[in-house]
Amino acid sequence: MTDVVRTVAALRRAVASLRDNGQSIAFVPTMGNLHRGHLRLMDQALQAADVCIASIYVNPMQFNQQADLAAYPRTPKADLEKLQQAGVQLLFMPDDQTMYPHGQHQQTFVEVPNLGEILEGEHRPGHFRGVATVVNRLFNLVQPDIAVFGKKDYQQLMLVRKMVADLAMPVTILAGETERETDGLAMSSRNARLSPQQRRIASRLHEALVEIKNLVAKSSENLQKSIEKTIKELEEAGFAVEYLSLRRRSDLLPPEPGDRQLVVLAAAVLGDVRLIDNLETEKLS
Ligand code: PAJ
Repeated sequence: MTDVVRTVAALRRAVASLRDNGQSIAFVPTMGNLHRGHLRLMDQALQAADVCIASIYVNPMQFNQQADLAAYPRTPKADLEKLQQAGVQLLFMPDDQTMYPHGQHQQTFVEVPNLGEILEGEHRPGHFRGVATVVNRLFNLVQPDIAVFGKKDYQQLMLVRKMVADLAMPVTILAGETERETDGLAMSSRNARLSPQQRRIASRLHEALVEIKNLVAKSSENLQKSIEKTIKELEEAGFAVEYLSLRRRSDLLPPEPGDRQLVVLAAAVLGDVRLIDNLETEKLS
């Protein structure tokens, strides 16, 4: 049975009772419209702690386009069924009034420097302030021992890790692998908005990342040229590429000679759907 709580008072009561029973808590924050990627994080949470608490809140502060917020799919009934099946014990489903009692513009915010300003931060101004602020508030409400975030949103995962370290928050962050469709497309709530034709093209984004990953592993010369060629091919296929970039994992800055732990990250728009994806890669020599 998944208990659903919507208010701060009810959540605090439920958490206190779990704590009284000596149970450890793993937390998975989401914006709902749950798919296999989300559920995999719930499984990971249940392996790591006695209890999994999930949240569903479509956080207006992290949307930099009103149309995107309005179009975000909301499927609470189907979500609850999936959480029941996954064995999630508690679902926190606050409304805007509960999350931002004085309105989002009066809310004290958290901003992560540098990491929050590049790549996604550059293309979606204010996005990461919204993410850091809501995750901070959710952590203070749920007070989990562990929280699980997907590598699908690689920069978000790193941003949360930095916030937790910088603000000395007593939460262990675990990373979940990206769940994909059979053709490689990373699962996302936004995929449902692709037309059948766009859906066929969409997997090329993942193919492009695999291509770059392999070139990095082979220590291919002229990587930058290959990346530019790949961007051109994606554009020809119908994508508007915002970035396709090879970065080092530690801080997502461009790699220096000697950096071996790398990640290739991309954001591209197909029709009016913005897709992001990434792959970790390792330079061997
Ligand atoms: P949302 O997009 O709902 O994602 C919730 C969690 O699921 C995130 O940690 C995300 O990285 C993970 N996830 C999404 N797609 C995945 C996939 N295909 N495979 C594995 N994990 C996947 O990310 C957010 O919500 C919000 O920004 C949030 C953290 C809830 C703050 O509002």
